[in-house]
Amino acid sequence: MRPLNKVITNKDTSFKPIWIMRQAGRYLPEFREIRKNNPDFINLCLNDNLSSEITLQPLKRFDIDAAIIFSDILMLPYGLGQKVKFEKNFGPKLDKLNLNDLTKIDEIDFVEKIYPVYKAIKKVSTDPILKNKNTIGFVGAPWTLLVYMINLKSPKKDLSKNFFQDEFLINRTLLVIENFLKVHIKNQIENGANVIQIFDSWAGLLELKDLPNYIYTPTLNLVEYVKSLNVPVICFPREIKDYKEFCEIVKPDAISIDYNVDPKKILNEIKIPIQGGLDPKVLLTNYENLKKETYKYLEIFKDHPYIFNLGHGILPETKPEMVANLIKLVKNN
Ligand code: CP3
Repeated sequence: MRPLNKVITNKDTSFKPIWIMRQAGRYLPEFREIRKNNPDFINLCLNDNLSSEITLQPLKRFDIDAAIIFSDILMLPYGLGQKVKFEKNFGPKLDKLNLNDLTKIDEIDFVEKIYPVYKAIKKVSTDPILKNKNTIGFVGAPWTLLVYMINLKSPKKDLSKNFFQDEFLINRTLLVIENFLKVHIKNQIENGANVIQIFDSWAGLLELKDLPNYIYTPTLNLVEYVKSLNVPVICFPREIKDYKEFCEIVKPDAISIDYNVDPKKILNEIKIPIQGGLDPKVLLTNYENLKKETYKYLEIFKDHPYIFNLGHGILPETKPEMVANLIKLVKNN
């Protein structure tokens, strides 16, 4: 059995596997070298030779338990025909959404447009380096994708007041997103992904009263879909106002927590396997502090099925040596 399955499925508490959100990325000089010659980020994601190589870069350096495929949650709007660009020091920029165009896309067009992502998963998952490790496929949650597809860029702190104005547009788009996320998940699994993580990076923007409509219902549909394919599903509803209620309603196989969650409190509230929590900024400090913070999580979750990870993506300014230290601390514990 692979390490994440031991924890998620068998509830094994005897060891703590580790992987790192955004582990394939800008803190690695070998990634920056490839990125320098590939200024178009979407094209890089669609180059299966390079995207599989980038996916494996952190596994060549560190003794981590899983690969997460080098792609982006915004490959979904791209596959649906909404133009997506990434600008330096700005982030993603999307073209205005056209509902008529969106509803014309069928499954075959969609899969054809992002086919190299699946090819890369196949390459990665069959690489000998991953023989006894996990290959993690992922999607953005319907809510977070809706935010990007309507807002057209990362929101600052809050959504603009007129975000929900066009109710028809919002509801139709949410349905299209959910349908194509199922297609995207199915193809990732068919090509070798053996865990799925659902990233809801903007879950924290919603009031409690809006959670059922925009998060619980569409995410539960996806969670049930992944479960029907017999693959474990991890949810990361970052900064959601009520993790406990989320778990009770959506019932993911494991829950990834952000760094504002009190680990002791969540341990008492939640029975399912837990992942993550460590503040990525800790990796910017020093070895002693890293050790103290890492041991804190290991101690709190010692008798609980737990996957070590950060409470959000690793920061670009992180030194790779600190990542190596973190992994040794977890592995030698
Ligand atoms: O985890 C991994 O290493 C796998 C690859 C991965 C990327 N994006 C590659 C990427 C994953 C899992 C993602 C998820 C993602 N993408 C999320 C959810 C997680 C989170 O961070 O909240 C979100 C919200 C996005 C959308 C996105 N993509 C933004 C806002 C940005 C720009 C800001 C940033 O972090 O760089 C991206 C670009 C992006 N996606 C990069 C990478 C490696 C940086 C591209 C570059 O080299 O400039």
